[in-house]
Amino acid sequence: MSAVTDLKTRIQRALAAAFGEDFAQTDPMIAATNDPKYGDYQVNVAMSLSKKLGKPPRQIAQDLMDNLDLGDTFEAPEIAGPGFINLRYTAQYLGQRLQTMSKADRNHDRLGIPNVTNPKKVIVDFSSPNIAKEMHVGHLRSTIIGDCIARVLEFQGHDVLRLNHVGDWGTQFGMLITYLKEVAPEALTTANAIDLGDLVAFYKKAKARFDEDEAFQLTAREEVVRLQNGNEDTLKAWRLLCEQSRKEFQVIYDLLDIQVNERGESFYNPYLADVIKDLKTLGLSVEDQGAQCVFLDGFTNREGQPLPLMVQKSDGGFNYATTDLAAIRYRLNEDKAQRVIYVTDSGQANHFEQVFQVARKAKWIPETVEITHVPFGLVQGEDGKKLKTRSGDTVRLRDLLDESIEKFGAIHDARLVAEERSETEEFKSNVARIAGLGAVKYADLSQNRTSSYIFSYDKMLADKGNTAPYMLYVYARVQSISRRGEIDFATLETPVQLQEPSELALAKHLLQMEAAIGAVADELLPNRLCQYLFELSQKFNTFYDACPVLKAEDEGLRSSRLMLCDLTARCVKLGLNLLGIEVLERM
Ligand code: ARG
Repeated sequence: MSAVTDLKTRIQRALAAAFGEDFAQTDPMIAATNDPKYGDYQVNVAMSLSKKLGKPPRQIAQDLMDNLDLGDTFEAPEIAGPGFINLRYTAQYLGQRLQTMSKADRNHDRLGIPNVTNPKKVIVDFSSPNIAKEMHVGHLRSTIIGDCIARVLEFQGHDVLRLNHVGDWGTQFGMLITYLKEVAPEALTTANAIDLGDLVAFYKKAKARFDEDEAFQLTAREEVVRLQNGNEDTLKAWRLLCEQSRKEFQVIYDLLDIQVNERGESFYNPYLADVIKDLKTLGLSVEDQGAQCVFLDGFTNREGQPLPLMVQKSDGGFNYATTDLAAIRYRLNEDKAQRVIYVTDSGQANHFEQVFQVARKAKWIPETVEITHVPFGLVQGEDGKKLKTRSGDTVRLRDLLDESIEKFGAIHDARLVAEERSETEEFKSNVARIAGLGAVKYADLSQNRTSSYIFSYDKMLADKGNTAPYMLYVYARVQSISRRGEIDFATLETPVQLQEPSELALAKHLLQMEAAIGAVADELLPNRLCQYLFELSQKFNTFYDACPVLKAEDEGLRSSRLMLCDLTARCVKLGLNLLGIEVLERM
């Protein structure tokens, strides 16, 4: 039972004892205080009962206190102001809880945090780049945020299916294949004849031709039909193109340590016709100038006319929305998902709202299933505009990640020189890789995802502030304490003593780890965890400045403080891992 639940029960018992059984279910109105001066919790029930009991609130607070048994969890309570009851955890209680946390299995270190009691089958739909098109920073955000959400839910014990809904179907292939037939036919029959950089350039040229040349348009459309009808040559060309893109995407996934199962749009082809058929049967879709449309609540065009969602084009073709409708059905009926999470930029908010609305109207989403779009903002350059290279081109993700690694390497080299340390190339490149990639991920995750953020190497690579390097240094610092003092953290066995204010503050924060993880899972906001880790690191540094550890006054205090160091490092490690970031034993 959590300390707050326990507190609630104890207060309700006291209310019943003081004022009669009628009050046994009264909400005690417990609130966390924001100023440590007033303790940890404030109980506000006395004010709310004043009228009902016909007594002044301070009297009620006193009667309540006279009947309140707080065990050894809290200090003797104080009445403040008009009748607030202030409660403060005892150092002994906090110490015991930390000790339990410390004893958790180090090999699979989850710091004693239990799994949720109601694990669910969850699908996280993330990353999802498009074949033959550039994987851009928007996909990078989706990849980083989606992976973090999946990690947190997995940690909680949910059964998570990570799905990469790649754009691997549609008109782009008609254009591309038609164009390649003209200029690079070998690309359609031989593997690896071109690389993705070329493919993207080809795609741009193909698109330009499509927009200006009517004959080309016609051929491209025929090619799409051939693809849809399963023509062998076209399918082969399509497979090769997909393979080519897939390899390039995999480079990014490997670099970032991302696990995701590809299940692209093409997977849902066999189910599209049924979606339309069922929508017709349900009377939801109507024909509009040859196309099939579903009218929506709450969506109107500029003239105030109701706006429909098109689910089948007049030429019989299906679109992005049709595929998402089929995907919902498949995911709920076949995958048996109980929660589905889609991570894309906020530009697609309307798309998902419309698709969800249609699926709900069709009763394809049971009440018990939670289906959510998790939108995020843009990544901007330092000028506040769309992120571009100096020459004005779109930034290749590979280059962006490499640059971060390289830049951190340079910063780290300078630090080694200043500290007169010499390290192997292997050591240095490992540090640069982990901190450089970690910095990019952390910079993304530490923002409230709904806002846009400015991509700045200087900020994300700084060793001070809410950054990955800052957290990594905290972790490494603790490991260096254990090396210097020749301490095996695993064998520390001692009561935790909390005396100094900085020790108490750190202790209380350490105990909030579970809540911080829970907040990410509930609100799907990774920045909650980053904020927690940032505050943890700050509190640790304050403690470390104020309290001698290896040189503590006596053996007991030394062990106790070492335990606080160890727990901090373990929280940082677990937290960073949930963000998809590795730690370094030495930096
Ligand atoms: N491929 C799409 C894009 O690049 C993202 C797909 C998101 N997932 C989905 N089920 N629609 O914008």
